[in-house]
Amino acid sequence: MKAVKVGICGLGTVGSGTFNVLTGNAQEITRRAGREIIIQQVGSRRDNPAADTSNTDVTRDIFDVATNPEIDIVVELIGGYDVAKKLVLLAIENGKHVVTANKALIAEHGTEIFAAAEAKGVSVMYEAGIAGGIPIVKALREGLAGNKINWLAGIINGTGNFILTEMRDKGRDFADVLKEAQELGYAEADPTFDVEGIDAAHKLTILSSIAYGIPLQFENCFCEGIGGITPEDVQYAEELGYRIKHLGVSSRTARGIDLRVHPTLIPEKRSIAKIDGVLNAIMVNGDAVGDTLFSGPGAGAGPTASAVVADIIDLARLIDAPASSRVHHLGYKQVDDTKVLP
Ligand code: HSE
Repeated sequence: MKAVKVGICGLGTVGSGTFNVLTGNAQEITRRAGREIIIQQVGSRRDNPAADTSNTDVTRDIFDVATNPEIDIVVELIGGYDVAKKLVLLAIENGKHVVTANKALIAEHGTEIFAAAEAKGVSVMYEAGIAGGIPIVKALREGLAGNKINWLAGIINGTGNFILTEMRDKGRDFADVLKEAQELGYAEADPTFDVEGIDAAHKLTILSSIAYGIPLQFENCFCEGIGGITPEDVQYAEELGYRIKHLGVSSRTARGIDLRVHPTLIPEKRSIAKIDGVLNAIMVNGDAVGDTLFSGPGAGAGPTASAVVADIIDLARLIDAPASSRVHHLGYKQVDDTKVLP
């Protein structure tokens, strides 16, 4: 079967991780996809010693990748809004499928991007944008597709959880831990997204659209971060038998869907209270399945690349099939216009 050709845009933490998983696990990936997956081109303004691209065509202009006639799948790993959106729309216009780890882009511009993709009969996949290595998009969209989802709640920002854990266990200073999270490649390019809860709100917006079949409505998500939490708050919570966790929560109410992210006191015996460091965990309650819990690493090169590559393999398996045989971007053939509570 014809090989599938991929273009990777961005060679930072996730881009180099994706390059290394695709090259390092090439045999396994070919067996799973049923065809070879080739990195045709990499677009990056600078090299990254974490990935050996010496045998790869590297362009300094990422837009070359979006228009390269050889490429089937454009992998957007540059992050941010404006350039990333231009790149993704150009790739779609050129008939490419897109894989992205950019939750900000999907949460705030997903409706426009999905419409462009549908008009062209291509797919946009974004598993890597939410909860790193946990396959929560696939779980909600496919594994739990038979359920009416009642609520979901989780720790969906690894940087924030890492900061709260280090403050509690080692009494470390907030700014010092944040700096380490940046060095480890966990934090967003603009770390205020992590600290102020915006990153978690992006992820909750996307998860909730998939869970309830509602349009993406980031603007209606209540958002409070961990910037105001002091070491004393963490210690007092501990003394009272609680942990402070930053949660994203959405639920079905009689008036509509409620979306909120904020710090929460959780009794220390609850399993989600024990999710520490960069780990994420998401609980989902469905009417048929009951309570479920998904956990794993929420950020970093390997876990995020794991999800990017899974999306590439999914696309490669169905790349010759008609667009109608691929799953809808939000997992619903008909999206409900149920309101999200303001
Ligand atoms: N900054 C994000 C986090 C990266 O810490 O969770 C993964 O989405």
